[in-house]
Amino acid sequence: MSDLVSSPDPVPDPAELLGLLRWYADMGVDLGIDEAPHDRFADAQHIKAASAPLARPSAPIEPLIQKNRAPGPKPSLITTSLMAPPPPPPPDQAALEARQLAQAAGDLAALQEAMERFEGCGLKRTASRLVFADGNPKARVMLVGEAPGAEDDQTGLPFMGRAGQLLDRMLAAIQLDRTQVYIVNSVPWRPPGNRTPSLQEAAICLPFLHRQIELVGPELVICLGASAAQSLLDIKDGIMKSRGKWVSLSVGSSSLQAMATLHPSYLLRQPAHKKLVWRDMLELRKALDQI
Ligand code: URA
Repeated sequence: MSDLVSSPDPVPDPAELLGLLRWYADMGVDLGIDEAPHDRFADAQHIKAASAPLARPSAPIEPLIQKNRAPGPKPSLITTSLMAPPPPPPPDQAALEARQLAQAAGDLAALQEAMERFEGCGLKRTASRLVFADGNPKARVMLVGEAPGAEDDQTGLPFMGRAGQLLDRMLAAIQLDRTQVYIVNSVPWRPPGNRTPSLQEAAICLPFLHRQIELVGPELVICLGASAAQSLLDIKDGIMKSRGKWVSLSVGSSSLQAMATLHPSYLLRQPAHKKLVWRDMLELRKALDQI
């Protein structure tokens, strides 16, 4: 310790640095934005102070400018626009806008383009890109996941990480692959730190998911995990109770059959539950063979 104090510039121990990095990753910090820590709350305070009304009409202007000016750098217009993007609209308005955009989209390309333009979901601000879909848009089966993870956010395709590899094996077990299914998420932008999307975020994005289902027109939909089942099937029971049962789902003018099963990420943590998903996959195979 005393060595560290007396040495002006200690060389960091690589093992300690690695440990620190791992700790950051475990805490959900998996993206570096600036070279040095940046207090954005302080930025927001400067901006708020600088953009506050300067004077009532009758008040002398100069003293008020002095009074209202916050300590610290005067924000330029560029700083202001970088630091304070316009806030997303209120959730009701965002959901309404999503519905209008989704309904106006006549095909999947138009829907993707509309979602790229949509600013109503706060997740878009922290995600790298929209993760629209993967697989075959003419598939009989649509799989609905929760939200993109880190690899998906980088590639723009859903289920590209470890959970995706397990999903591919689940599909292979019933003679399916990505060319025979269509894969989407209930929320198409990665939540920071891979947290579960909030009910509000899922509700805002639901019109897009509904339209994706309408445009693809699958016969069967499989919800992967509780989040997708709750959002799409309005299932309130726990996933353990509701999984493995076909339910009717109406989307627009079409009605189809849907089933919830356990999420592959959950199975990576609880491999003993793979046998339950195996049963659900067999149900899916049976339904495909019968229809
Ligand atoms: N990747 C996805 O695209 N969706 C999930 O639910 C999990 C990982």
